[in-house]
Amino acid sequence: MVQAVRGMRDVLPQEGRRWRTVEDALRVVLSGFGYEEVQLPVLEFTDLFARGVGEATDIVEKEMYSLQDRDGDSLTLRPEGTAGCVRALNENGLLYNQTQKVFYTGPMFRYEKPQKGRYRQFSQVGAEAFGFAGPDIDAELIYLCARAWQELGIVDHVKLQLNTLGSGEARVRYRDALVAYLQPLHSELDEDSQRRLETNPMRILDSKDQKTQSLLTQAPRLPDFVDDASRAHFDGLCKLLGELNVPFEINPGLVRGLDYYTHTVFEWVTDMLGSQGTVCAGGRYDGLVEKLGGKSTPAVGFAVGLERVMLLHEVVNQATTQPVDVYVCWLSESCFIQAMTVAERCRDMLSQAKVRVHMGGGNLKKQMKKADASGATLAVLIGEDEIAAGELTIKHLRDQQIGQSRLPLEEALRLVVQSSSDLL
Ligand code: HAM
Repeated sequence: MVQAVRGMRDVLPQEGRRWRTVEDALRVVLSGFGYEEVQLPVLEFTDLFARGVGEATDIVEKEMYSLQDRDGDSLTLRPEGTAGCVRALNENGLLYNQTQKVFYTGPMFRYEKPQKGRYRQFSQVGAEAFGFAGPDIDAELIYLCARAWQELGIVDHVKLQLNTLGSGEARVRYRDALVAYLQPLHSELDEDSQRRLETNPMRILDSKDQKTQSLLTQAPRLPDFVDDASRAHFDGLCKLLGELNVPFEINPGLVRGLDYYTHTVFEWVTDMLGSQGTVCAGGRYDGLVEKLGGKSTPAVGFAVGLERVMLLHEVVNQATTQPVDVYVCWLSESCFIQAMTVAERCRDMLSQAKVRVHMGGGNLKKQMKKADASGATLAVLIGEDEIAAGELTIKHLRDQQIGQSRLPLEEALRLVVQSSSDLL
């Protein structure tokens, strides 16, 4: 059978519905903040990304899907949306002496090692604001994200990390100081960091290697190099976020993997998706419009990784939309009616509890597995022995220490009610 290319995913009907929900929520929020949709080509000249994203970045060095067309031009499937967006607005005269707030959605392509939450074709919803220099727009963009998380019911599961990289010149000064510090330690760095020391030293701060990280504890720190204007911008942003009640954490190690950033950078991260926990990322890129041939224009934006937000939405909503409090297992056919009766007594006593009777038969092990997967706190076990003795077995599924006890029926039901403060 012909198979999909590695790292490319099919979105099948069930996921398609979730996809709509997530994308629509983001669209509604973006429109509500005055962002207008643009649709941009998937294919651009390779040079756009080399100049825009940066020759020495991982993306340009080793992750692009590039091809030569029949005219001999080098083209690349877009690995991200910001460079193409700047190109399009510049080319169409939309950045000249005016402000713009736009968003786009669609597939991006990066030749990365596929794993959960990381694919070779993935989708972003990106937003970009041009012509605004102050921290007010940074704050609004971040606030807008928080509102989208609220709409999607994931706001309690993502955290905002912030940093400032300073002006372009401050970055250069910092990079030189970092290289001067690390050069004598070259042989002690991990292989990737040794290479990055030549090409993109600030990415060494992102290294996952423990030895490298321990060497970095004594390294010059980026915040000490940030210029006064950038510091004032960042302080202004932090103050605004405080006033808007958007919690954040300052992470001085946050440097981002694309070269165009200056001043503010941020990431929304979750700890519910394993290693691919960044669901949205962005920052300011005041130099990019000019670098790509336009007039110097301040700019800031972000992109949401749709697949990751969908994974998170799925995890969170599974946990919150189908909770079961009590799961009733019955061990032979003759126990089914008693199981239904006991479940009904539980519902009577605990009007808000969700009580599920096991369906589909199977041995105790199978039923307990289902009980556990249902998220229930308590399992009620009913076998012929219990019925003959007028008893029930109650098992606490979330607290090993409480374990299980077999009690007379009424006493057992009272125990279920007593445990109800844990359940509801
Ligand atoms: P980025 O951090 O490279 O930034 O990507 C943004 C988001 O896209 C990530 O946080 C992640 O959620 C998602 N993403 C990236 N790579 C993958 C992948 N291989 N599989 C699944 N999801 C992925 C940018 O692309 C910038 N253009 C963001 C931006 C816009 N900055 C300013 N404006």
